[in-house]
Amino acid sequence: MPLKCGVAQRLESGELAAETGHWLLEIVKRTDAYRFVVLLERWIGEMRRILVTGALGQIGSELVPALRQRFGDDRIIASDLGMVPPQGPPVRVPYEHVDCAQPHQILEVVRRYNIGTIYHLAALLSAVAEEKPQVAWNVNIGGLNNVLQVARQYGCRVFFPSSIGAFGPSTPRDRTPQVTIQRPTTMYGVTKVSGELLCDYYASRFGVDTRGLRLPGLISHVAPPGGGTTDYAVDIFHQALRYKHYTCFLGPSTRLDMMYMPDAIRAMIELMVVDATRLRHRNAYNVAAMSFTPSELAERIRWHIPEFTIDYCVDPVRQAIADSWPCSFDDTAAREDWGWSARFDLQAMTADMFAQLREKLKAPKGELIRRWRGCDADAKTERDTRVEAQGAGASRQAQGHGQHH
Ligand SMILES: NC(=O)c1ccc[n+]([C@@H]2O[C@H](COP(=O)([O-])OP(=O)(O)OC[C@H]3O[C@@H](n4cnc5c(N)ncnc54)[C@H](O)[C@@H]3O)[C@@H](O)[C@H]2O)c1
Repeated sequence: MPLKCGVAQRLESGELAAETGHWLLEIVKRTDAYRFVVLLERWIGEMRRILVTGALGQIGSELVPALRQRFGDDRIIASDLGMVPPQGPPVRVPYEHVDCAQPHQILEVVRRYNIGTIYHLAALLSAVAEEKPQVAWNVNIGGLNNVLQVARQYGCRVFFPSSIGAFGPSTPRDRTPQVTIQRPTTMYGVTKVSGELLCDYYASRFGVDTRGLRLPGLISHVAPPGGGTTDYAVDIFHQALRYKHYTCFLGPSTRLDMMYMPDAIRAMIELMVVDATRLRHRNAYNVAAMSFTPSELAERIRWHIPEFTIDYCVDPVRQAIADSWPCSFDDTAAREDWGWSARFDLQAMTADMFAQLREKLKAPKGELIRRWRGCDADAKTERDTRVEAQGAGASRQAQGHGQHH
């Protein structure tokens, strides 16, 4: 049955019957008035604004401009932990400080801007979550729960990004099916499976229109990665251009599912605009584009930089995480239900990464630093600042200043 929110949902659940009388409910349901209410709600929903949480991260830095381009500047509200947005292209839209661990901050922004859709990106990624499992639980699950509660109250639709991390060593690793065993062994994975289930629960129990993707490791030339196990596949391009050499923290034959960011952004937007009746699964759809090992990526990089070399200094924590993840996804369900299809394979992604990064290297130095703010040397400081802020948010909660948990 298609999900409806607000009046239509309350009509269907019988909640309005008590207030209006069963006779009125029956009249509405048996006439075109019901269909009118549903259409009106869909139209009103489409007019409402879009909130992106965790908007300054790797995905948000590209999702926000893409949403702006599609829906218009004034309809997109970017938010993150920082009190003021950094200068730069990703945040030429309204920006708000929103700590997702603080429900009142989400509520206030949703109410003030008449938010109809929330892309909930705020989270701690796999390697960071393993360092701070308690903080990761509070941010990834506490934050999601807060977002879902506000969504329920204000009839918002919610996008939740799950991950290859939602699987574990007992999951089939090759062409991992849409529905299969999910017993992750990392805190990140635990929060992703729990998040998928929580979104399903809010959809079936309260009619919240939640939708999600299981994203592979993402490769981008815009923003630095936020401390995930697949970060090597971004760093390697920067180091290849600078030093023609890269020391990889995963072993040479560690095969993982990967996707180029433009494909991932398109998938998120396409999933959120598709008619709900087409979705057999809500949380979350497998989406796939390419699957490679560090040595295969190095080989492809040598097509562009023949003298490039790679060696390996394996980080046991990240290697263990990678070894528990799928090598490749089966994304048949996404293809069948809402027409998903990736545009970038390894060859196309590598060529585009080098073209984009070389273009940036040609830019004047100040411009380069501004645009790459957070990359390379600066990346550590900005990433550390983020992680510190996340830790501070969680410790505020632990001290009882948060309103929740
Ligand atoms: N990047 C990937 O390869 C990848 C793959 C699969 C899934 N995902 C998921 O996509 C989402 C976004 O990933 P990303 O790569 O952009 O991560 P990121 O680490 O680059 O960005 C996350 C953002 O969330 C913010 N944040 C952290 N705690 C917060 C809080 N309490 N309140 C508000 N903001 C907070 C951070 O400041 C940061 O800007 C995450 O849920 C992640 O698990 C990412």
